[in-house]
Amino acid sequence: MKKVTGTALVTGGNRGLGLEVCRQLGRAGMRVLLTARDEAAGEQATTELRSEGLDVLFQPLDVASQESIDALAGRLERQGLRLSALVNNAGIALDGFDARVAEKTLEVNFFGALHVTERLLPLMEEHGRIVMVSSGVGELDGQSTEVRRRFDPPPPKEKLLALMHEFVQDVRSGQYSSKGWPGSAYRVSKVGLNALTRLLADELKGRHLLVNAVCPGWVRTRMGGPHASRGVEEGADTIAWAAMLPPDGATGGFFRSRKPIPW
Ligand SMILES: NC(=O)c1ccc[n+]([C@@H]2O[C@H](COP(=O)([O-])OP(=O)(O)OC[C@H]3O[C@@H](n4cnc5c(N)ncnc54)[C@H](OP(=O)(O)O)[C@@H]3O)[C@@H](O)[C@H]2O)c1
Repeated sequence: MKKVTGTALVTGGNRGLGLEVCRQLGRAGMRVLLTARDEAAGEQATTELRSEGLDVLFQPLDVASQESIDALAGRLERQGLRLSALVNNAGIALDGFDARVAEKTLEVNFFGALHVTERLLPLMEEHGRIVMVSSGVGELDGQSTEVRRRFDPPPPKEKLLALMHEFVQDVRSGQYSSKGWPGSAYRVSKVGLNALTRLLADELKGRHLLVNAVCPGWVRTRMGGPHASRGVEEGADTIAWAAMLPPDGATGGFFRSRKPIPW
């Protein structure tokens, strides 16, 4: 296998898909910054991968905290580090559905990915790859007419952010259903993340950055549960692949099993 060089940063790297993505990127030859919000869990995962002979370093990062994101960026800047790949993998799927769940879910799955990406952009190398770990539940085909109208084509970034806040407001006021929103914050977070991926891909073309979303399939992790159809190795494969695309690789795409799927 051809060796891939450079440094990759993975969010939520302590378990599940994130941990396996770190492993696959490390095996391909990359230096990996494994990040996690729980320092003990992050250190433990890093030790595990280092014992497999991989070049993995731990950095604390809570994607829901701007302070934590700024602190990480500051440390990387002081070290003069450049990133050739950023994998926005951290995600949550909470039980229940109310305004608190909606707010928390968007905070991690949508705003977390946005804030981490924006803060780390200055550190990205030319031809760097940004991967959004999304889900098939965010596909537009499965959404109501109102949601499709709002998100396709993706509105300008300011409007997109306003829409995400509007969803939380509509859940709080009990109007979400009459406004055509689904009763799933996780679903809305991934619809938003997909729209963001398309916007960023366009915005960053001039810098030759490749920005893509990946659906890992239904995977046996704490989130996916024990009955999911895929193991982590298969689920992580397309995420790692998108994080190692060559300079002329795809951008602005949505992939599952290394194949394009519709937005
Ligand atoms: N499994 C599936 O079937 C499936 C299908 C489609 C998409 N996905 C997506 O794949 C990604 C990974 O999911 P998974 O299946 O590996 O789930 P998982 O096993 O539950 O792992 C989620 C990871 O995200 C981290 N995380 C949550 N909130 C965070 C925060 N605020 N800051 C930093 N890290 C945070 C968790 O850290 P802690 O250990 O500290 O909680 C954990 O490392 C998610 O984006 C998910 O939506 C999964």
